[in-house]
Amino acid sequence: MKYLYIICVLLCVYSCREEEPTAKPHTLKAAFANSFIMGVAVNKAQYTSKEIDATNIVLKHFNSITAENSMKWQYISPQQSVFDFADADAFVNFGIENNLKVIGHTLLWHSQLPEWVHAITDSAELRNIMYTHIDSVAGRYKGTIHGWDVVNEAFHNDGSFRDTVFYKYMGQAFIEEAFARAHSVDSSAELYYNDYNMTFEGKRNAVVDMIHNLKNKNIRIDAVGMQGHWNLEHPSLEDIETSIIAYTNAGVDVMITELDISVLPRDENPYEQELPEHIENKLSERYKSLFQLFYKHRNKISRVTVWGVHDGQSWLNNHPTEGRTDYPLLFDRNYEAKNCVYAILNIF
Ligand code: G3I
Repeated sequence: MKYLYIICVLLCVYSCREEEPTAKPHTLKAAFANSFIMGVAVNKAQYTSKEIDATNIVLKHFNSITAENSMKWQYISPQQSVFDFADADAFVNFGIENNLKVIGHTLLWHSQLPEWVHAITDSAELRNIMYTHIDSVAGRYKGTIHGWDVVNEAFHNDGSFRDTVFYKYMGQAFIEEAFARAHSVDSSAELYYNDYNMTFEGKRNAVVDMIHNLKNKNIRIDAVGMQGHWNLEHPSLEDIETSIIAYTNAGVDVMITELDISVLPRDENPYEQELPEHIENKLSERYKSLFQLFYKHRNKISRVTVWGVHDGQSWLNNHPTEGRTDYPLLFDRNYEAKNCVYAILNIF
C-alpha cells in the first residue's frame, strides 16, 4: 500500500511537470526558436574567437551570423582579378563549425565597392564583371550560405533608383540579372533584397514593384530585409507593421536585418560616460515593443538580425560623426546582457 502511494505521488509529480508551461527561455535563440531565426552581425575578432567574450555571446544567443564587413566586394576583390577570401572563409567556417545559419552580405552594393569597379563605364564590361563577382563569391560558398543579400540599397527613399554604377550603365535590369545569376550559381541559397528606410512609402512601393517584376519573370527572391537602423521614436510601430504586411502581400518573407536602436540625438554626444537610467528604460521598452511586433508577425518574418554583438562595436559610434558613444545593441561594452535582453525575454 505504502509503495502504491509513493508510485501515485511520483506519477502525479511527473504529470504535473509535463503540464507546466514551458520554462521561461534564457537565450534569445531559444525564445524565438519557433518563430524566426535570431541573427547577429560579427566582425573578424569575433568569428576568429579573438574577442572570446563576444564570441561566447554569439554562440549562446544566436543561431545565425552575418559578416559586418568581411564579404563586401572591397575586401574580397580590392583589385580586378585579385581575390582575397581569407576572412570570408574564416567567417563561413566559423558558421559551419558552430551550426549557425550563414548569411552572405552582400553581393551588389554601391558602397564599399572597389575603385576599379566604379571606374567602369561600359555596360557589357560591367555585366561581365558583375557576373564574375557573383560566380566567384556565391560559387565559392555554394551550399553553405543560407541566404544572400543579392542587392543592397538600390533605391532612394522616394523610390527612385539610386544612381549607382550598376544602374547608370546597366539600367534597372541589373537587379533581375543579379538575382538570376545568383540563383544559377547556388540554387540552394535564399535570395534577398536588403535596404534601410523600408518603411518610407516611396521606397516601399518601389520595392513592392521590384518584387512583382522579379516574380513575373520567374526569378527567385525569397525575402526582403528591412534594415532596422532605427531610433527610440522612429519609425513608428504602425509604419513598420504596414511595411511588413505590404512586403508579405507581394509574396516574400520579411527579415528585420541590421537592427540597432540609436539613443543619440543626431548631432550630439550626451552620454559619453554612461547611459542615464530613464533612457535605458526607454531603450528596453522600444526593444520590447519591437519584438512583440515581430512575434505577432512571426508567420511573415523569417529572421531578425541585430547589427553587432555589443555597444562598443557598433558602427553608430562613428556615424554620422566619429567618436560618439552610442548604446544601440543588446549587450553592453562589458559583454553583459542589457536590460533590453531581459525585456525581450520577458515577453514570454
Ligand atoms: O578596413 C579599415 C581598416 O583598415 C582601418 O584601419 C579602419 C580605420 O577606421 O577602417 C577600416 O574600415 C572601416 C570598415 O567599416 C571596417 O571596420 C571603414 O572605415 C568603415 O567605414 C566601415 O564601416 C562599415 C560601413 O558599413 C561601411 O559603409 C560598418 O562597419 C558596417 O557596420 C556598415 O554596415 C552597413 C551595411 O553593410 C549595409 N547597411 C548599412 C550599414 C551601416 O552603414
